[in-house]
Amino acid sequence: MKRDFLTLSDLTEADYRVLFDRAHALKASRKRKEVVTSLAGRHLVLVFEKASTRTHLSFEAAMYQLGGTVTTLSSASSQIARGETIEDTARVISGYADCVMFRTFGDERLNAFAKASAVPVINGLSEGGHPVQILADLFTVEERLGSVKGKTIAFLGDCASNMGRSFVEATRFFGFELRLGCPEGYRPAAALLAEAGGRVHVTADPAEAVRGADVVVTDVWTSMGQEAESARRMKELHGYQLDEALLAKAKPGAIVLHCLPAHRGEEISAGVLDGPQSAVWDEAENRMHVQKALLEKLILG
Ligand code: CP
Ligand code: NVA
Repeated sequence: MKRDFLTLSDLTEADYRVLFDRAHALKASRKRKEVVTSLAGRHLVLVFEKASTRTHLSFEAAMYQLGGTVTTLSSASSQIARGETIEDTARVISGYADCVMFRTFGDERLNAFAKASAVPVINGLSEGGHPVQILADLFTVEERLGSVKGKTIAFLGDCASNMGRSFVEATRFFGFELRLGCPEGYRPAAALLAEAGGRVHVTADPAEAVRGADVVVTDVWTSMGQEAESARRMKELHGYQLDEALLAKAKPGAIVLHCLPAHRGEEISAGVLDGPQSAVWDEAENRMHVQKALLEKLILG
């Protein structure tokens, strides 16, 4: 049976431990310039319905560095743009590839693609979540601060975004406390919060969210596909910018994460993004190391 990675619930806490250990080992191998060929002869297809820099490059680099090959397709330049169904596209790709990564809009589209695909499908960002990014984020926390278990992570701004939602979901597998600092209207759905049990605390006060936190995270205020709402979002989220004054309320030595791309002066100040507590460049690099481990798991079992 093929195994997809569409949401964090598709793997278990035990799987994540093995995955992170493998990602640490693969990162160390890469730093020693060792060649790993665990995916030689395997092929990955990346399908993008939205823009990407990191996801595109990190998946390509991961696959090539493990000895595999990759084809990247944008829906705009494929027959998808001319109305070929997502199901037909998935069936055709299954004949060529050992794994597919799909970045799309609605989760119905992602689920329909996965259902029609005979090979494992990875969610490369959808409206409902960005699970591969969360893996890189928590791997970075472990690398910088030790075990994620028992840590307090504060997420500021648009907590209903794909990043906010995946962080809420992650509390069920990684044993951290999550504090969401956002105005009314930017909270994840009540059902998702209920699933997380008592691990998530929501406040409209950004200082309360950040106080004593080990990790402070934010994401853009206007996600891809929401551009028409940008002016309203700027106005309503104004006051939730992660700046130096807010960061000073976190634990000394706290780290800052942002999945990038960032908008300096909107959700995060330039001083914080480029400052000594920022772990964002490691976070971006770690996408590749963690995805290598994920590709091995889904392709090799
Ligand atoms: N963080 C992230 O997914 O970046 P891209 O949109 O550049 O892939
Ligand atoms: N929430 C952002 C993440 C970008 C990687 C978006 O969906 O645009």
